[in-house]
Amino acid sequence: MAVTVRAVARVNVAAIEANAAALCRVVGPDVALCAVVKADGYGHGSVAAARAAQAGGATWLAVATAIEAAALRAHTISGRLLVMGALTADELTIALDADADIVVWRQEMVAAIDRPARVHVKYDTGMGRLGTRERDEASRVADAVARAPQLELVGAMTHFATADERGDDFFAQQLARFEQWVAPLRERYPAIVVHAANSAAALRDPGARFDLVRAGIAVYGMDPFHERPDAHGLAPALELCSYVAEIKACGAGESAGYGRRFVARKPTLLATVPIGYGDGVRRGLTDNADVVIGGRRFPLVGTVSMDNVTVDLGPDGGGVSRGDEVVLIGAGVSAEEWARRLGTINYEVTCAISARVPRVHHRDGVAVPSP
Ligand SMILES: Cc1ncc(COP(=O)(O)O)c(C=O)c1O
Repeated sequence: MAVTVRAVARVNVAAIEANAAALCRVVGPDVALCAVVKADGYGHGSVAAARAAQAGGATWLAVATAIEAAALRAHTISGRLLVMGALTADELTIALDADADIVVWRQEMVAAIDRPARVHVKYDTGMGRLGTRERDEASRVADAVARAPQLELVGAMTHFATADERGDDFFAQQLARFEQWVAPLRERYPAIVVHAANSAAALRDPGARFDLVRAGIAVYGMDPFHERPDAHGLAPALELCSYVAEIKACGAGESAGYGRRFVARKPTLLATVPIGYGDGVRRGLTDNADVVIGGRRFPLVGTVSMDNVTVDLGPDGGGVSRGDEVVLIGAGVSAEEWARRLGTINYEVTCAISARVPRVHHRDGVAVPSP
């Protein structure tokens, strides 16, 4: 597919569908897959990601915010939908209007729901963010939900802090705490959906899967353990592309970019690629990334600016011409590679691709209408 705009994120919905199907196979038929499509589907486009994940076998979707839930429904996404985040009073209304399930962990939160709602109770087993750290409080809240005539106690949940750190004991401690809470709860409420695992936990430990896994990063074909997605049968869905807008000679001693961070030691040819930190190519990639042009890797040189980067093509120009496609993520350059170079995680790499970059969805190269 030729680039028709200065920068584009191409998202292969077939990859998302296949990743969801692969996760369904891993967890087996008794465990539901809840595809996490918050933050615009980790930068991939939440509506297209939701549809593809559902086609791959996800029976639940999860988002962080009420507005994200409403946006999915506005695009006719149906099926079970969980808003995992904290909700203000106004956001509670938006979430319930979107026919989403919600999460509570304090009695006042239960009392504040004055209309029919499907509710999950969150026990904070060690993440230290949302949920109650008190096991008894979590149980009391679940009982209060079950007693409230307009409420349905649907789920009991927690979230792991260190599932991606293999060999870490804290994961096992959280799991044990959660099990101690849910075992008696399940006896009282046999129909509840028990869920704890993110992608890493779902892949790492069958004992953490319970009734449903909430997988985000793996659905997009990125490695929750920050290494190689293919080690888990996952394929990245997103490519970030731009093009060679300009090629010019750079003599010895001449520079490119703010601060003259690149000064040519010998004559070379530089390509200007019109994508920058305003698009999500973080400034930390200054002199610290490769791009792929015509199947070859070339180094990004000089400061990443808001709208442009420069690439050293070498003295012979590497066979590159104006107009050639430049792949920044994809073609062997992974989000995991960017994350290592930036000292961050793959999640942040794709979430950082800004709204200025159009998402173009396709199915193995054949364009599909973007939502
Ligand atoms: C509560 C909760 N569950 C599940 C997920 C999905 O995690 P992952 O993308 O690691 O699968 C997230 C994402 O951060 C989350 O906040």
